[in-house]
Amino acid sequence: MKKDLLTLEDIKRSEIFKVLDLTEKLKKKPIGNQLHGKVFCLFFEKASTRTRISFASGIQQLNGKVVFLDKKTSQLSRGETIEDTVKVLERYVDAIIARVFSHETLETMSKTTDIPIINALSDLTHPCQILSDLFTIKERFNELKGLKLAYVGDGNNVCNSLLLGCSKVGIDISVGCPKEFQPNTDIIHRAIDYTKISKSDVEITDDPIKAVKDANIIYNDTFVSMGDEEEKEKRMKAFLPKYQVNRKLLNLAAPDVVYMHCLPAHRGEEVTYDVIDGPKSIVIDQAENRLHVQKGLLVKMMGKK
Ligand code: CP
Ligand code: NVA
Repeated sequence: MKKDLLTLEDIKRSEIFKVLDLTEKLKKKPIGNQLHGKVFCLFFEKASTRTRISFASGIQQLNGKVVFLDKKTSQLSRGETIEDTVKVLERYVDAIIARVFSHETLETMSKTTDIPIINALSDLTHPCQILSDLFTIKERFNELKGLKLAYVGDGNNVCNSLLLGCSKVGIDISVGCPKEFQPNTDIIHRAIDYTKISKSDVEITDDPIKAVKDANIIYNDTFVSMGDEEEKEKRMKAFLPKYQVNRKLLNLAAPDVVYMHCLPAHRGEEVTYDVIDGPKSIVIDQAENRLHVQKGLLVKMMGKK
């Protein structure tokens, strides 16, 4: 595998399937020594519950060690450069798992050091979330190829990674977003390239009803990502009520449809209570799998197999 995981462009289709297979084994046998002797820095510029704790817990279950660094309490908050920070950190740890505002910060980190940099969410992508979601989908449907995922709402970091992940493994993806909140154009083009290999489809529309037609999975995320808070009012106007996932929209999908959300959710905004708390929702199983898949990823990248 490549040194870093900054986006799902950094992991080959065959490597994704290897991580998913390894995860299945690790989920059955969660305690081991695969990361013995490795120290990971978990670096956060912004809030996290799942990513922070699932990485920390998973690393410790495999006998690795974790140290935390938050921007607010580090010298970065007083003007130290990211380059100096990373050059020092590489003397202390074996890899950095980083959640940042700007994706460029990850690229700078990657260029500055030879130790692996793993993206724990940036403004552009959220690859660990989507690797984990692919595992959840496979667990639920026993296969990936031939399924259709509909993403409704904001064409954000999660949506960008879903485009790359689905198109790599052969899930048809339809994205229904308002025109001014469409996913990243370069990523759409990369995803279309991947569909030529995986023989699947990418559809981009501003019509959520079209997007969810025959979908096996309806997925959405907050309308206001971290860093977008100042646009809250504008976003609510653009997304509500058309892009809210409610029972009416769910009923237009395939009969076996499941509802997924990376969490945290905002009930009454992107999703109604009856959907996220109803029988089609698999969001808590989805969150659990972050733990297992990230263990699979770290073992594949740098552990004892
Ligand atoms: N889904 C996700 O990344 O959650 P956190 O922000 O809690 O880490
Ligand atoms: N799109 C959201 C995902 C949170 C896990 C954000 O970036 O805030």
